[in-house]
Amino acid sequence: MKAIRFEQFGQPDQVLKLVDIPEPKPGKGEVLVRMIASPINPSDLLVVRGRYGVLPTLPATPGFEGVGVVEKAGPGIYGQFLKGKRVAVINSAGGNWAEKAVIPAIRAIPVPSDIPDEQAASFLVNPATAIAMTRHVLAVPKGEWLLQSAAGSTLGKMIIKLGKHDGFKTLNVVRRREAIDELKALGGDAVISSSEGPIDEQVRAITGGQGVRYAIDPVGGETGSQVFKSLGEDAHMLVYGLLSDQDIHFDPRAMIAGKRIIEGFWLGYWMNARSKLKNLGLFREIFAMIREGILSTDSGQTIPLTSIADAVRAAEVVGRSGKVLLAPG
Ligand SMILES: NC(=O)c1ccc[n+]([C@@H]2O[C@H](COP(=O)([O-])OP(=O)(O)OC[C@H]3O[C@@H](n4cnc5c(N)ncnc54)[C@H](OP(=O)(O)O)[C@@H]3O)[C@@H](O)[C@H]2O)c1
Repeated sequence: MKAIRFEQFGQPDQVLKLVDIPEPKPGKGEVLVRMIASPINPSDLLVVRGRYGVLPTLPATPGFEGVGVVEKAGPGIYGQFLKGKRVAVINSAGGNWAEKAVIPAIRAIPVPSDIPDEQAASFLVNPATAIAMTRHVLAVPKGEWLLQSAAGSTLGKMIIKLGKHDGFKTLNVVRRREAIDELKALGGDAVISSSEGPIDEQVRAITGGQGVRYAIDPVGGETGSQVFKSLGEDAHMLVYGLLSDQDIHFDPRAMIAGKRIIEGFWLGYWMNARSKLKNLGLFREIFAMIREGILSTDSGQTIPLTSIADAVRAAEVVGRSGKVLLAPG
């Protein structure tokens, strides 16, 4: 079968190659899924660059998410039940950028027939992170500001719509002025651009000098540092990505004196710490909110595996609209 592989960490458009490899066999409790589509997420590209928190043994195939049809199952009742079903393919080890992938049967989530492939392909990572951070970890109260950077990202847009639905206000930071109007039209209560001056000064102007009590940052570097400076007293900031690949700097005195908390968030850890039953409930909640358009993903180009270099370049174009999907055919 065809698969994307990399033998060394590096620039994705240079190190990723299309190769022929033997079809993997599902073992006990596993299923073989024929892939329909898989998104190119920032986390996939961080892995390829060797900059993710957990890295695979090389050579490796990227791809944490996707949608496909279960073709074969190893020994185990649940895997047999899944044969022929369309499933979201949650591959925590990576490996979905291929014609076929083997995953544990419990990570193959049956997709209701009314959910289109392009939504099913991005069913878990961003929607579950949006819900986990705002409703569970921060539990942002109604009427409070939530400050978020990279607000024009797929996940950022979901959080704007969740804010409208759940009753918290979003204060959104983008890096390009041109992105402001779109996020206001989507329901962002305030939208600022980091190109227009220090984020903390703009945030204090909006919040009457107090700063915010809730913030989330996937950028790091100067943006993440300024998000920390935007916190008021008794505040909680989640760091959940590192798009800039730069460290965050903060003044420990501000942390101590004002009881400001910075905490890392990773969906994998968060879900593993919960019961399977609770996670099943979360999946149902996500499907319902995809139908309502709250946790839906804007679709971008679909590009075949054979054009992998073009695909990874397209995924990192500044101001790209919609998620780039990889399709085997
Ligand atoms: N911790 C977790 O469990 C978890 C789970 C899901 C997602 N994430 C993280 O969430 C973030 C968003 O993911 P996504 O799939 O929604 O991304 P996406 O749709 O690919 O969007 C990326 C966004 O980031 C912006 N951006 C890229 N580099 C930037 C930089 N250096 N400074 C400021 N903005 C920058 C882009 O802005 P332009 O529009 O200007 O190009 C774009 O809006 C990623 O960091 C991802 O790793 C983390």
